[in-house]
Amino acid sequence: MSNAIGIGMIGLGTVGTGVVQLLQDAPSAMRRRRHVDFAIRRVAVRDVGKARDVDLGAGVVVADARQVLEDPSVQIVVELTGAAPAYEWIRAALQAGKSVVTANKAVIALHGAELFAIALDRGVDLMFEASVAGGIPIIRSLRNGLVANRVESLHGILNGTTNYILTRMTRREGDYADILADAQKEGYAEPDPTADVSGADAASKLAILSRIAFHTTGTAADIYCEGIERIEASDIEFAGELGYTIKLLAIARLVPGGVEARVHPVMLRHDSQLANIHAEQNAIEIVGSAVGTQVFTGAGAGKMPTASAVVADLVELAERKSAGASTAIGDMIVGDEAAHFAPMEDAELRYFLRMQVADQPGVLAQVARILAEHQISISSVLQKERGLQGDTVPLVIVTHKAREGSMQQAVSAIDGLALVDGGVRLIRMETT
Ligand SMILES: NC(=O)c1ccc[n+]([C@@H]2O[C@H](COP(=O)([O-])OP(=O)(O)OC[C@H]3O[C@@H](n4cnc5c(N)ncnc54)[C@H](OP(=O)(O)O)[C@@H]3O)[C@@H](O)[C@H]2O)c1
Repeated sequence: MSNAIGIGMIGLGTVGTGVVQLLQDAPSAMRRRRHVDFAIRRVAVRDVGKARDVDLGAGVVVADARQVLEDPSVQIVVELTGAAPAYEWIRAALQAGKSVVTANKAVIALHGAELFAIALDRGVDLMFEASVAGGIPIIRSLRNGLVANRVESLHGILNGTTNYILTRMTRREGDYADILADAQKEGYAEPDPTADVSGADAASKLAILSRIAFHTTGTAADIYCEGIERIEASDIEFAGELGYTIKLLAIARLVPGGVEARVHPVMLRHDSQLANIHAEQNAIEIVGSAVGTQVFTGAGAGKMPTASAVVADLVELAERKSAGASTAIGDMIVGDEAAHFAPMEDAELRYFLRMQVADQPGVLAQVARILAEHQISISSVLQKERGLQGDTVPLVIVTHKAREGSMQQAVSAIDGLALVDGGVRLIRMETT
């Protein structure tokens, strides 16, 4: 047997096939690194009879993940399934003293703390560059390139599906439901798009980035999360008239006493960098204490971009092994330095409020009185004849910074006014 590093893969679908192709093609930048030599020894799939786009030789493709985990010639396990037992497979591989590379954001976001501790204990590594933002090397940048910084804030477009839907809505190509249906037909959205459109996928990715950037221990369930399901073409139109674009952002920033972390639609000024990230592209804007603002942008998913991130992890492991280095997982163990997510009610934000109100005098005064009672001050008001629906007209209010908890109370009170028809629509505003 050669000295090549034995790779065992679980999963040979979209990303797995891309990884095999990159390893077999070995671009020259990789070949020039003397110690980087891999041999794919075992690959587990669900259906061994399925035709594959890559040739791995006889006997390599097997039907049971345990054959990968138990193979003594496998030194690194690459998990690329998204299947339910992925957590158990990753844990078993680490416990068996094998390093793991995965693209599975759900497992890392939910079980990261336990898995990093096992890796440290066993002296192996757990690499997960592909779990956030596909081909963008954001995890490596945060862990290595920006290590000298205290990260102050992180704003990300971390979900391509929702960015694709909002981009097309902004281009007036249809309403939410029509564009979602198109996105499913074109393969940009899953048959069940809930995890994407609800913001849950972005929240898992934010939990991972926030752990690295701010040493938080919370999971996606601890992050305030609101999706794009209720965004209407008219919200985008009103935002546009005021000079704003609507995006689904994942945001984490240092605040006194903790880390504010939230995923929700936001209004960004048209000229901000994140407002100009279109279609399925991802982007992350980081403010670091030493580097200032940096924006990373590129493909957040897809076969080759995601495979590129997986192979980068493999190359790092190969180089570490040849240097005789010990596990590098220590920075993922937060220990005594753990930071906590701050309560959403304490966030201080600017708000865009829109409501249909009776076309009669005194309505604005009633709404303004409720806002004032909750210490919310108005920055501008827009009331138009256009948009007349029956005998109601749209009223748009932009506020100065206010406490989220106060705003929620004010919105409930305004919803109760007889002259407001159908409740208040609220979109948070963000400066990036
Ligand atoms: N696709 C992307 O752009 C992207 C981007 C970022 C992260 N990811 C993550 O990467 C992972 C893989 O995604 P993918 O798009 O490549 O998925 P995929 O195309 O659906 O491939 C899944 C692979 O896993 C295999 N598999 C499923 N259940 C298995 C089991 N019980 N035992 C053994 N093998 C099993 C499948 O076998 P068969 O081939 O026999 O069906 C298939 O080869 C997921 O965690 C996903 O979230 C994907």
